[in-house]
Amino acid sequence: MENKRKQVLSAIQPTGVLHFGRYFGAISNWVRLQQEYDCIYGVVDYHAMTMPFNPKKLREQSWDLIINLIAAGIKPENLFVQSLIPEHAELCWIFNCFTSYGQLSRMTQFKDKSKQNQENAEDAFISAGLLDYPVLQAADILIYRADYVPVGKDQEQHLELSRNIAQRFNAQVGKEYFVLPEPLWAEIPKVMSTAEPTRKMSASLGEKHNIDLFADEARIRKQIASAVTDTGPAQEGVMSAGVENLFALLRAAGRMEAHEALMENYRSGTLKYVDLKEAVAEGLVAISNPARARRAELLSDKKAVKEQVKASSARIREQARQTVREVKELCGLMNV
Ligand code: TRP
Repeated sequence: MENKRKQVLSAIQPTGVLHFGRYFGAISNWVRLQQEYDCIYGVVDYHAMTMPFNPKKLREQSWDLIINLIAAGIKPENLFVQSLIPEHAELCWIFNCFTSYGQLSRMTQFKDKSKQNQENAEDAFISAGLLDYPVLQAADILIYRADYVPVGKDQEQHLELSRNIAQRFNAQVGKEYFVLPEPLWAEIPKVMSTAEPTRKMSASLGEKHNIDLFADEARIRKQIASAVTDTGPAQEGVMSAGVENLFALLRAAGRMEAHEALMENYRSGTLKYVDLKEAVAEGLVAISNPARARRAELLSDKKAVKEQVKASSARIREQARQTVREVKELCGLMNV
């Protein structure tokens, strides 16, 4: 048996800023996995069309995210843009015919997002694309025969669907063609908004609710200095959500020594919030500063980055083409 490295695949939508919640929740893990596995990471712009979107901005958002991902440590050769590989959409169509309509309409993310659309607009438009979103995701994963998919728990149902599609396909064509992908749950720190620590850090909540990975040092320090620590009347022996979040950020930033010392102070009732905030700010700035410098460098020659990622997409596309060719053979479709 050849000693082939396992294939990892994950993807991210080109929306919003790359804040520390997204960085610690997904991207820093993607960066680490590159050492151990063959990794492919997609910027999934076809997926971004399933919710209201701005056609004038979509392409720029995709390039921005690509630059941000590379600045954060993703190797450009591991990156692809989904719309540069139309085979994803072709495989999605084929998979539609192996997917139960009932299962799709029961997906919690579909129900949540449909509701969101209805709340945001009177003439709510819920596209068939939104319903079909998880099938396109299954195509993203299976087209590269991914062994592992690093995702958050919110994607559990989608991954299960990918496995169901693979099984149904394999059963129907009478061949164990697709690998059943396994989730790769990382230890994902739950990063909350520093302004409202009972809510998840997110771009859609507004500026003060997220800390941009590339924000300048002064802004990061200011945001942490003004982080909410006391939320309502303190309960004996229960850490407030704000303080808990600051400790979580400290751990996520890898500041274990400071974490231990400050936790000791907390336990003995001598913790000063300024010290905790100072340590968190140090941890974030140590990650942010080099990333911001790399980003500035990449932005100074944006054209080169675009060329590089177009080339890596073209190379990755060869794998996708091969899979679709084989799938068409197995389904009795025609290949040119
Ligand atoms: N649905 C994923 C999310 O919202 C994004 C995604 C699209 C994805 N295709 C994928 C994740 C394939 C993993 C694998 O986070």
